[in-house]
This record gives sequence, structure tokens and C-alpha cells, in this order.
Amino acid sequence: MEKEVVVSGIRPTGFLHLGNYFGAMRNYVRMQDDFNCYFFVANWHSLTTHPDTRELKNSVYRVIAENIACGLDPQKVAFYVQSDIPEIAELYLYLNMLSYKGELEKTVTFKEKVRLQPENVNAGLLTYPVLQAADIIIQRAVKVPVGKDQEQHLEMARNFADRFNYRYGDVFPLPYAFNYGDELIRIMGLDGNGKMSKSENQNATIYLADDDELIRKKIMKAKTDQGPETPDSVKPDYIQNLFTMMKLVSSADTLAKFEADFNASSQGNCIIRYGDMKKQLAEDMVQFVKPIREKAADLLANPDELHRIIKQGADKGRARASETLTMVRNAVGLNY
Ligand code: TRP
Repeated sequence: MEKEVVVSGIRPTGFLHLGNYFGAMRNYVRMQDDFNCYFFVANWHSLTTHPDTRELKNSVYRVIAENIACGLDPQKVAFYVQSDIPEIAELYLYLNMLSYKGELEKTVTFKEKVRLQPENVNAGLLTYPVLQAADIIIQRAVKVPVGKDQEQHLEMARNFADRFNYRYGDVFPLPYAFNYGDELIRIMGLDGNGKMSKSENQNATIYLADDDELIRKKIMKAKTDQGPETPDSVKPDYIQNLFTMMKLVSSADTLAKFEADFNASSQGNCIIRYGDMKKQLAEDMVQFVKPIREKAADLLANPDELHRIIKQGADKGRARASETLTMVRNAVGLNY
């Protein structure tokens, strides 16, 4: 049986962090054997918010290197740069004729960006979901691994695909957001405020590029308190976050020890020592991040290899995209 087609896009803005790893990249790596995967760096999308491209090239290289360092295998998946697939731009043009100003203006992400950058409300920002739909359906994908914040964009992609099929004939299967259900992991900032972030809150975020000392320093500064007042207390969210990270990077025994210490503590008899816990977590985190950081750095220091990978991805990505575009041109009647 043919494997189902999966597409996902990664915006090349900022350094990847632990939240990205456990929220997205690890799922990509899990999918690469079971699905026919097309993953790409959404560099056109980043122009909607970052018109200055001085940093863009390095960000694209970095995001590719870090994803591969995390286990994405460019032999197994098509891993490409969006702008290397001009077929996406042509499909975007057709889809633009099928999308309405009213629905685009109502998109939550658009309204938010208007608020954030009122001085640059460009048409690309308005049609961001149209480009995203083109990214997805150019590969005739059915599954799109994305977080909750992208569900509206997926619904719009389905609408555009459906409208195209209705007007010009069946070309596209309808794509749906996909995740591994209850295993969705959310990692908070180490200061207990919000999520880890690609660009803000850098001291509360563990980046995959952080060196050993920096990781230790950040974890030792993570927010804690005096410890539980009664046995089997509910953990405050910033404490739960330390346990969540420990579960992800430490051994089962280590986690069990600190769980037991936490649950046996009560006021006046606090067994758990958060200082010790953080020291252990820091060491395990260093062991976890180090090989990823080093592999990414090796790749970044080897532009020939990176270029070979990017070229290989473009070839794989274009093979199916150009097939789709031929179907699209035939359906629209642009085949003279
Ligand atoms: N909008 C997505 C994000 O903000 C990135 C993206 C662009 C994407 N094109 C895509 C995701 C296609 C999935 C499929 O993260």
C-alpha cells in the first residue's frame, strides 16, 4: 500500500529549543518511517514578517542542520527549502483567485500580526494561509503535523482545496492537522512564565545550540520554592515543568527518586532538594543537548554537505510538486 503523504513547514526564525524538539521535531522523526514525508523550511513565509533578509540565509542553514541533528534523515524524507519549489508559487497564484478578502481578514493569526506590525500590513501577510495551503496541497498531502495554533490555517487549506476541486475537478485530497494525541508535550519557560520561545525569554529557554555551561546556568536558575507542605501535594506548574523535563532527558530511576522525594516531603520535613534535582537535571540535559549541538555545528561547518542535502531535497520536493502542477494546469485548462 502507498504511504500517506505528510507535509509540514518550519519557519526559519530564531534558534530551535527544547519545546520545538519535543513538540515538533521528535514527531517528524517518528513519522519518517511510516509516511511519505515532505518537510520544508518556510522561507517565503518569513518574508511576510521579516523583510530584511540579512539573517535569513543563516537561519535557513541553521534550521536544516538542527533538524538533521535531531534525527531527520534526508534520505528518508524530502527535506527542502520552500523557495526551491517554484511550483508552490504558481499554485499560490491560482488559490489566491479562490480566496476572499473577508475570510482572510478574519484569520486569527492575521489579526494578531496586524496588531504586532501595524506599519507593515502587506498582502503577503493577508494571504499567508493561502501560501500555506499551496505548500500542503502541492504535494497532495493528507496529514499535516502542526500544533493547535495552526488548526485554523488547516481548515482554510481544506476550504481552498475543496473550492478548487469543486470548480475545476478533483485534484486534491483534503488535508488534516495531525498529532500524536495525548502525548503532546508542552515545555514552559524556566522562569515559570509562558512557553519556551525562539526569540524572547532567552534565559528561560534551553536552545539546542546552548553550550554545556549555559545549560547548567539556566537550569540552576529555574524557578522553585521551599518545597511541598504536605505529602503527595499537587505540583505548582513550574515544578511540574522540571519533572516534565526530567522525564524527557533523565533515566527512569532518577525521575522515580525525585518523584518519591517530592511525595514524601511535608512541611518541616522537606525531603526533596530542588538544588540537587536541578543539578541532576542540568547534567542529563547537557548529555541530551550536546550530541545534537555538535552534529548541527559539524553540518554548519560543512557547506558542501549542506548544499548537497538542500539540492537533494529540492529534487525530491519538485518531483511530486511538478506532477501536481501539471494536473492543476490541465484541470484549469491552461494546457495549450
Ligand atoms: N504557519 C506555520 C507555522 O507558523 C509554518 C508553515 C508554513 C506550515 N507552511 C506550512 C506548517 C505548511 C505546515 C504546513 O508554524
